[in-house]
Amino acid sequence: MARKQRLDTRLASPVDDAARRLVSVDNYRPLPRCSRVYDIRVDLLEAIDRRQSRRKYVPTPLTERDAAVLTELIAALNDSDGVRMELVVDNGSAFDSLRRSYGMFTGVRNYVGLIADGVYSTPEKLGFDGELVNLTAVTLGLGTCIVGGSFSRSACPFDLKSSETVACVIVVGEVEPAPSTKEKLLRGAMHRRSKTLNQLSVTPPPWPDWFNAGLVAVQKAPSALNRQPVVFALSDGRASASIPATDDPLMFVDLGIAKRHFGLGAGDGTWDWGSGGVFTPGLVGL
Ligand SMILES: Cc1cc2nc3c(=O)[nH]c(=O)nc-3n(C[C@H](O)[C@H](O)[C@H](O)COP(=O)(O)O)c2cc1C
Repeated sequence: MARKQRLDTRLASPVDDAARRLVSVDNYRPLPRCSRVYDIRVDLLEAIDRRQSRRKYVPTPLTERDAAVLTELIAALNDSDGVRMELVVDNGSAFDSLRRSYGMFTGVRNYVGLIADGVYSTPEKLGFDGELVNLTAVTLGLGTCIVGGSFSRSACPFDLKSSETVACVIVVGEVEPAPSTKEKLLRGAMHRRSKTLNQLSVTPPPWPDWFNAGLVAVQKAPSALNRQPVVFALSDGRASASIPATDDPLMFVDLGIAKRHFGLGAGDGTWDWGSGGVFTPGLVGL
């Protein structure tokens, strides 16, 4: 059984407070269109709109500022949720060695390792917290891509315990503003049309605004092979999120990512962990 835990998705949560503090630093580089850099939720919602997986990177190290923002956020998330994420800077060997066989990624120098420890609920937490790192990197103007397959796990420089594995990584780095032709082709090959809101919810409309807004944010979430496996339901004023029965850890990463997007879209509320976990809107602080 998944150990159920509550995690606050409100702005006042320790996690989001940390993110807000971190991206509000004086020389934070905002997105060109973003004027409200003091409001992390607005930045993250905008990042949800802007984000798309990028696979061609300018092979430069992260700036000290970007590395510091991501490192501090990762430390806050690791502390609060007991997950293990680790930033690798200026070391692309996990991608260089496989470049010829996969041919997917170029110029990767930096990534965040999402390290699973064999505990059932960890991949979901890694998805939930990793997606906050992913979106925060987008608010910094960086390109990103979550990668579960096309890299060499053995070439990652993590000091793993025997119980630990690299679930996936989040590539981060400078990109050209517009995707290259090859990136567009790869995205076209992988990115089927997004599911409709009705396909994402087993409960037919009409829905309250917060539920609708949560689904809209989930529509834009990354998922392995763009399979969008998470379905939502609405009952007694609460949402729930489920995936098909599986032992595929990446499906649980997808579940955590979808819950993160739903929470950011819906606003105040609290998620329980696990497939079938319940989102209670506006509970926190009562
Ligand atoms: C858990 C996970 C694993 C992924 N693994 C890979 C991968 O191995 N290679 C890759 O090119 N993209 C990978 N992706 C990116 C997805 O292909 C991408 O999110 C999906 O096609 C939707 O496209 P978008 O992110 O541009 O919206 C992964 C995404 C997730 C969430």
